[in-house]
Amino acid sequence: MAISRVGVIGLGTMGAGIAEVIARNGYSVVAIESSTSALEHGREMIENSTQRAVKRGKLSEADRASLLDRIHFTTDYPALSDADLVIEAVSESLELKKSIFSQLDAIAPEHAILASNTSSLSVTDIAVATTRPANVVGIHFFNPAPVLSFVEIVRTVVTSQDVVDEAVAFAESLGKQPVVIGDRAGFIANALLFGYLNHAVSMFESSYASREDIDDAMRLGCGYPMGPLMLLDLIGLDTAYEILDTMYKQGRDRLHAPSPILKQLVTAGHRGRKTGRGFYAYEAPGSPVVVDLPVPEEAVEAPVRPVQSVGVVGSGTMASGIAEVFARAGKDVILVARSAAKAQQAVAAVQRSLDKAVEKGALDAEGRDAALERLRGSASLAELSYVDLAIEAVVEDLAVKKALFVELDRICKPGAMLATTTSSLPVIDLAVATARPGDVVGLHFFNPAARMQLVEVVRTVSTDDEVVDSAVHLCREVGKHPVTCGDRAGFIVNALLFPYLNDGVKMLEANYATADNIDLAMKKGCGYPMGPFELLDVVGLDVSLAIQRTLYLEFREPGFAPAPRLEHLVTAGYLGRKTGRGFRDYAG
Ligand code: CAA
Repeated sequence: MAISRVGVIGLGTMGAGIAEVIARNGYSVVAIESSTSALEHGREMIENSTQRAVKRGKLSEADRASLLDRIHFTTDYPALSDADLVIEAVSESLELKKSIFSQLDAIAPEHAILASNTSSLSVTDIAVATTRPANVVGIHFFNPAPVLSFVEIVRTVVTSQDVVDEAVAFAESLGKQPVVIGDRAGFIANALLFGYLNHAVSMFESSYASREDIDDAMRLGCGYPMGPLMLLDLIGLDTAYEILDTMYKQGRDRLHAPSPILKQLVTAGHRGRKTGRGFYAYEAPGSPVVVDLPVPEEAVEAPVRPVQSVGVVGSGTMASGIAEVFARAGKDVILVARSAAKAQQAVAAVQRSLDKAVEKGALDAEGRDAALERLRGSASLAELSYVDLAIEAVVEDLAVKKALFVELDRICKPGAMLATTTSSLPVIDLAVATARPGDVVGLHFFNPAARMQLVEVVRTVSTDDEVVDSAVHLCREVGKHPVTCGDRAGFIVNALLFPYLNDGVKMLEANYATADNIDLAMKKGCGYPMGPFELLDVVGLDVSLAIQRTLYLEFREPGFAPAPRLEHLVTAGYLGRKTGRGFRDYAG
């Protein structure tokens, strides 16, 4: 059957985007809403969105005009009597959807495919509200539908193969990459996305970190196009609540129980970007422009503890990366390793990295030479007696780090800040190894330190405010973007990232989707730079497992238990790219 006329029911954020992308691809669209005001609002959204596309050079004025011409806006269901395909995109209420499908059943021609854009409700439940469940399928788009190229095609146990094939061909004709999957709450992408989003909300709700810091951490630490709270505003907090609620009811996973503040915001009418307010306040309903961001703190007065000299302890990748950051930013750096040879190797690594920066034109030769002049290696911790900041980047072993902090406490001058780059150990354990826990702070850099902008500044229950403020100031001074958080396993980024990766492994283990399709879903459906399996193989499965275990031990969340498949791959020595095999095979 050739699809030429498509109905879209519901012109909210998703429905409007879906109608736009379908009309854009030459189909004639019947766009239905329940009231004239909702219809007008939907029309406005499509007009504005296509106007933006014209402004950004994505669409010509003439194509915009014919796109709009192809959409027939109406509140009249019988206009669907000659539709080949109808896509329902109303709010996530099963009762509402069922009643729409039973109406459609009476109106749409016999051959028509009836599709739901539901993101979490059971397509099977919806299908059985009709007399033709074989013709019912899920076609799930991602917000913004005109931009994101992934579509989930949800087949139920009764959907006919022809209908699935036609839905796939239709999605492809829109320039989308469809993946066919079974009918399970959240499908692929939402099932992996919403645990993460909900966790971010609970971090915010418990004042563990600020709204901006949570969002910035995930954008800068993981390369996500948006932070979780801003993404929730885009999705709509009412929609997010419904999705989580449905996922919770289906899986009874506490991590999906919607964070209470979501419901409170929805009740208050703050449903996200579409109402002009959610976690953020926007210029106007529907506008992406945030108006309540804090004023940038460039003009913060001089820190109580200014830093000119920095001691870096360690000789690995992180140590040399951090030494490079400070030396390039004009600080005097002494890098202390366990032997003179190791110290020289680390300095040589900085030199190579600086040479590369010169080759790439990111730095001039004088800049490189000046940075190198400010950096020296040493094998003696005693030399750290004059530094304003000592920062350790040695092996992730609590006993080793504790012993080092005892030494730093003995050697460093009063008032020096003592920092750890640990990504998994409690900073407070290191602080109490010293007689000055108020001076101890976490500075969690990301690898490669010279290029990654993010630094998590970790405050323990003992860290002095002036130490946190001075550390934040220093990070900004050397061109980094600091975010502050409490001293909990995984800080912000790892705590939000690894459970999601682990959930991906569990989904694979359950044979719900392939690694390729899961990676595709997260890249094309959510704009992530890498899918979970690509990322796990890059990070290393042993490292990932260790982080996940730490999170599990600290939070005692059953949902954080490492996926058995991850454990088995590590046991087998398949650690990812570094061993040539992980979730994928890199041999040859
Ligand atoms: N038609 C075609 N192209 C358009 C367009 C339109 N109507 N509107 C925007 N674009 C293009 C823009 O031109 C731009 O492309 P270029 O960069 O090549 O110019 C691109 O799309 C995005 O540009 P924007 O100006 O709109 O804004 P941005 O660059 O700040 O990106 C964003 C915004 C696309 C939302 C991005 O931040 C993003 O991808 N965020 C993640 C969104 C996400 O995760 N969505 C999934 C949510 S889950 C879901 O939807 C499922 C569910 O069931 C809830």
